[in-house]
Amino acid sequence: MAPERLEVGTTLGAGRYEILRPLGAGSQGQTLAAIDLRTGTHVAIKRFNVRGAESWKDVELAEREARVLAQLSHPALPEHLDHFEEDGALYLVMTLIEGDSLAELRRRGELLDTLELLDLLRQMSSVLRYLSQRAPSVVHRDIKPGNIIRRPDGSFALVDFGSVRDHLKPGGSTVVGTFGYMAPEQFQGRALPASDVYGLGATALTMLTGAEPEDQPHQGLAIDVARALERRASDPRVRLLSQMLAPNPEQRVHNLTRALAELARPSSGGDGSERPRAPKARERRPAPRQRKRRNAPPKAPRGSRIARADDDDSAGPPFGATRPGLLLLAGTLLVAGFLLFPMATMLLLLLGSGWWIVSSLFFGGAPKATEADDSETPGASESPPRVRIAPLSDVAPSEEQPSTSRKSRARR
Ligand SMILES: Nc1ncnc2c1ncn2[C@@H]1O[C@H](COP(=O)(O)OP(=O)(O)O)[C@@H](O)[C@H]1O
Ligand SMILES: [Mg+2]
Repeated sequence: MAPERLEVGTTLGAGRYEILRPLGAGSQGQTLAAIDLRTGTHVAIKRFNVRGAESWKDVELAEREARVLAQLSHPALPEHLDHFEEDGALYLVMTLIEGDSLAELRRRGELLDTLELLDLLRQMSSVLRYLSQRAPSVVHRDIKPGNIIRRPDGSFALVDFGSVRDHLKPGGSTVVGTFGYMAPEQFQGRALPASDVYGLGATALTMLTGAEPEDQPHQGLAIDVARALERRASDPRVRLLSQMLAPNPEQRVHNLTRALAELARPSSGGDGSERPRAPKARERRPAPRQRKRRNAPPKAPRGSRIARADDDDSAGPPFGATRPGLLLLAGTLLVAGFLLFPMATMLLLLLGSGWWIVSSLFFGGAPKATEADDSETPGASESPPRVRIAPLSDVAPSEEQPSTSRKSRARR
């Protein structure tokens, strides 16, 4: 009987594979890096201890993993190389994928930035499409950070087909998956291709925030992606992840490839061309009222949804729309003032002269202004000499006429 844990240097498969190092250990088995002594290549070997299995279902899943993987071929999946039984254990030999799992990255405190996340979603969407197009369609059922490996070149691979389901059984099937990453319908034993979209969405959110799905803010049954990412709900990435994490599989993103292509369109504002800090900077923009000033430079490409979301806020600048009208009015008044001022001045001069002539003819002299009434004296401004303030004492009695002016009469 094979030991519980295999040591480095142990050989398997009738001496063909030599164990190099452990890759991971689950409750029912071990995954190891080994060298194929026949070819000299490095491989990954997954060992399932049949005798330690809790039920035949587990054994069936282990066998299914080898069978399904043998039928798959995709650059983001390990390639099935061999499988055999030895000393009461099942062994699956596959190509070794270099790199670290996302769970390992997260343990080290490394999260994904926006660009890496979009890469992850694009590459995984290609795998999910490939799996769903098999006949019958294949559902992975356990997409989570521990089952995605980031290669040194930055590409991603999906491993662990130990929970895979390759046919749809009426009446549901066994509940498998990992709590938090499992779509709600999986709890009813109803796994669909859309269930993998949910697992991928939850993985993406974990790798952006560092928090497990159950620790994310929720709204009802759904994860509140906008709050989790501290971004606006109108951000295209928030919308995409929210749709991937819709609790109802019918409302979930079905065609992830198309949704990502839509996100990459420049008008969506989510083409991933910005670094991860940029959206946060946009979030830190001033409050809407200040943001909406007409002269403020655009914060997002013209026509982008973000920009449209800003424009949509119908309040708008309170005076912006009437400013040109005010400018026009002011200009008109200025021009009119320039034209009217000389005319008014000439009119007043004429009136003043007329009054001078009339008063000279009928009263025999110009009226004299006094300190108290100079400002009200008709014609005071049109003829400066007449504005001179004359003390009453200066006025010779002989010159004073009984009816010089109504004003001087009032003073008296
Ligand atoms: N083909 C592979 N190449 C490299 N590493 C692998 C491969 N398959 C699995 N691993 C690593 O081993 C770990 C455990 O393997 P996995 O198949 O997920 O087992 P389990 O069913 O116990 O979760 C994974 O998290 C991954 O890091
Ligand atoms: Mg695993």
